[in-house]
Amino acid sequence: MNRANKNVLVVGGAGYIGSHTTLALREAGFNPVVYDNFSTGHRDACFGTTLVEGELSDRDRLVSTLRDHDIDGVIHFAALIEAGQSVVGPLPFFRNNVASTLSLLEAMQETGIRRLVFSSTAAVYGNLPDGKPLNEGLPRNPVNPYGHTKSMVETMLEATASAHGLQAIALRYFNASGADPQCRTGERHTPETHLIPLIIEAALGTRAAIKIFGTDYQTPDGTCIRDYIHVNDLATGHVAALNNLFETDLPGIRAYNLGTGTGHSVREVIDMVRRISGRDFAVLEEGRRAGDPAILVADASGANRDLGWKAKHSGIDQIVRDAWNYALSAQGESFRSTGS
Ligand SMILES: NC(=O)c1ccc[n+]([C@@H]2O[C@H](COP(=O)([O-])OP(=O)(O)OC[C@H]3O[C@@H](n4cnc5c(N)ncnc54)[C@H](O)[C@@H]3O)[C@@H](O)[C@H]2O)c1
Repeated sequence: MNRANKNVLVVGGAGYIGSHTTLALREAGFNPVVYDNFSTGHRDACFGTTLVEGELSDRDRLVSTLRDHDIDGVIHFAALIEAGQSVVGPLPFFRNNVASTLSLLEAMQETGIRRLVFSSTAAVYGNLPDGKPLNEGLPRNPVNPYGHTKSMVETMLEATASAHGLQAIALRYFNASGADPQCRTGERHTPETHLIPLIIEAALGTRAAIKIFGTDYQTPDGTCIRDYIHVNDLATGHVAALNNLFETDLPGIRAYNLGTGTGHSVREVIDMVRRISGRDFAVLEEGRRAGDPAILVADASGANRDLGWKAKHSGIDQIVRDAWNYALSAQGESFRSTGS
């Protein structure tokens, strides 16, 4: 396959995972075009990639963008992502993540573009009590509106694939983390709710303390265990999924977990930030939050087998080191941790 002839529309490509994926697409020889409304994304995360400012809901603009740039395939990252916020204010999540995605699917149908990689999430599984690695054969059973929006889009993709020949891969990410090792882009969510950047804020002194929610779980140190996946591994997962769609031409939708299969507890991650940063900070122990399962780890054997993809940069030390160095560079500090 000649990737230099493959133009890829990256919807939501100015965001955290999209900007890393855009870099990986360029490095793999694809021609990405970013389509974004910059509601949570950043223009400066796109580094000379062609940018189209547009709304996911704007079907006509999507049609003209797909035609003008002679697009061969689409990656769809654009969404509101904060699960807690989706509980208190669900309607914008259903409008943005579900209703607006219809415009993209209609635009793809109108222009005859059939290949799509969709950002799904481990949140589609809901809370499973036994702590075993989650595989894609489990039923989707989300427990918050955000998870429902992703599950609903997977349902839309299934129906569109069977009626109109869409060829789609839904990638269900576990805990996205880390940053580009060259600090060209990194995690910049507002508000930030993800554990590693929050701990780093505590280490930098821009947050008074880090809170641990629940220290009495059935885990070795009593805190929750999650599967942290380096954002550059997610990026190469998208490249692998696109390659697979172009090479196999398989109709239908397939779902793959992107994770490592190994979990780390909240205390382990806190200790790693202390070690990499060389800084100490306050830790507050609070009660459990409703709806947090003790353990969530991926069975990623499907992506290993079918996409030839494996996480290569997701050691927790490398994740924390890259996230720490990015946070320092964003603050204008010149010190770089090499880890030890
Ligand atoms: N970050 C995680 O840990 C994680 C985990 C699982 C799944 N995901 C999924 O991955 C995707 C990317 O997440 P992220 O962390 O990079 O989020 P992000 O907020 O950094 O990126 C989302 C991007 O989409 C754009 N966008 C949002 N709504 C839009 C609209 N209506 N029109 C055009 N552009 C729009 C934003 O401006 C932003 O650039 C999301 O779909 C999210 O649900 C993320």
